[in-house]
Amino acid sequence: MIEFRTGDATGAELVVVPVLADRVIGAEDGVSPDLESLSAVLDVHDFSGKHGQTLFLQTPEGQTPECLLVGLGAEVDHEALRKAAGIAARAAKGYSTVATALHRVGIDGAAGAVVVGTILGSYTFDEYKADPKTSKLASVTLLGEDEVSDEIETAVSLAAGVVLARDLVNRPAADKPPAALADIASGLSHDVDVEVYDEDAIVEAGFGGLIAVNAGADRPARMVVMRYTPEGATRTVAFVGKGIVFDSGGLSIKTAAGMETMKTDMAGAAAVFGAIKVIADLGLTLNVIGITPLTENLTGGSAQRPGDVMRAYNGKTIEILNTDAEGRLVLADGLALAAEQAPDLIVDIATLTGACKVALGAGIGGLFASDDEAAEIVGAAAKAAGEKMWRLPLDTDYKPLIESDVADMKNIGGSFGGAITAALILSEFVGDTPWVHLDIAGPARADKADHYISKGGTGFGVRTLVEVARSMT
Ligand code: BES
Ligand code: ZN
Ligand code: ZN
Repeated sequence: MIEFRTGDATGAELVVVPVLADRVIGAEDGVSPDLESLSAVLDVHDFSGKHGQTLFLQTPEGQTPECLLVGLGAEVDHEALRKAAGIAARAAKGYSTVATALHRVGIDGAAGAVVVGTILGSYTFDEYKADPKTSKLASVTLLGEDEVSDEIETAVSLAAGVVLARDLVNRPAADKPPAALADIASGLSHDVDVEVYDEDAIVEAGFGGLIAVNAGADRPARMVVMRYTPEGATRTVAFVGKGIVFDSGGLSIKTAAGMETMKTDMAGAAAVFGAIKVIADLGLTLNVIGITPLTENLTGGSAQRPGDVMRAYNGKTIEILNTDAEGRLVLADGLALAAEQAPDLIVDIATLTGACKVALGAGIGGLFASDDEAAEIVGAAAKAAGEKMWRLPLDTDYKPLIESDVADMKNIGGSFGGAITAALILSEFVGDTPWVHLDIAGPARADKADHYISKGGTGFGVRTLVEVARSMT
């Protein structure tokens, strides 16, 4: 983990300097070079200060600090800062001691944004590499800050939650059996009580969706319930995360290509773990319940078959017509369990449908809500956190598409609107509790690194869930 300090640039190997559009130095920091005198160099490198541009200014051999100019563009907000910090961190990964002036642009909360962008931008997943390309960045000094403020510490904690989620998503499915993830949940924080339902307890409780999906797997399922109940809290939010540690599709098997990234299918659960850890670390005054049904979706001899019917925790039955639509089955149990606790709000988060990824692309999550107020709470939180979510309709006119001949509903809709029919199925399990469903099939994973996003698991959703909790305190 990078250590953040405050003060001056003494001892730094590199100083990061923000440049606004049209080569305006972004900060009064005492370290920025005179860009006017450098205009010939900047011309050669076509460096204008456009957001995301970087330019190293070389110093004579052995002389430090070197300087890294980072373009911030014309409109500087928190997201621009996070991105620029991520880009700078990536560019500076060969240096161990860096000082930065990126945050000195006269915006409240800039230091926090720079810290988050720096940590996330320097993230790599190297556990399985003989020759890791891990960032050397060990210490970053935020120039001109008096002290490591609460804002900085909060940002470090938030980024650590995202890093935890990324690590869990990136870990191969073979090495994250449900029981191991349940153990990780149990160790998240002293302030979080964790109840783990093992295979017997799952049968006893009647988590029929989790049982049905787990039937084709050798490694047993777990239902994890995390409870953070700080003194003085009056309101309660429940987070429910899809935790399919691997999705082969089951008997309705996926293609080889479709399966390649399916270790990502527990990204919802990973986001809930990360968020609860952060919330407990920050000591937010709000009751938080985290629920993660954990299993893999495989094709063993006892696997569920198309045509089978399962009964969820709330007694409702679902006819399985496609075993690849398994997330909604385990979420049915998770949501019913959440609703039973009568929270003020339920937010579920799931890599639920390819259809949502088709609709919104890889960068934007789908948001469905039981009502406008719930949509507003979570939509505003996502916006504040810098995670893109777009509301999609929970249109009950499509309900006939999930009618079953033999059960209360079937687990797939028609050929179109798959993200909506999936959300409509989930809506059957929350009762009257205000509820938001986040479909993160697209943004849970990135094909390539970009600013503070790393290739592979992104940890998407952690920051939104934390912000939801913060906004409800
Ligand atoms: N885990 C997948 C959804 C998914 C697809 C996430 C691609 C990320 C990238 C989910 O369990 C699934 O397979 N859904 C099916 C549903 C269909 C059978 C109704 C899908 O989206 O194709
Ligand atoms: Zn599936
Ligand atoms: Zn899935």
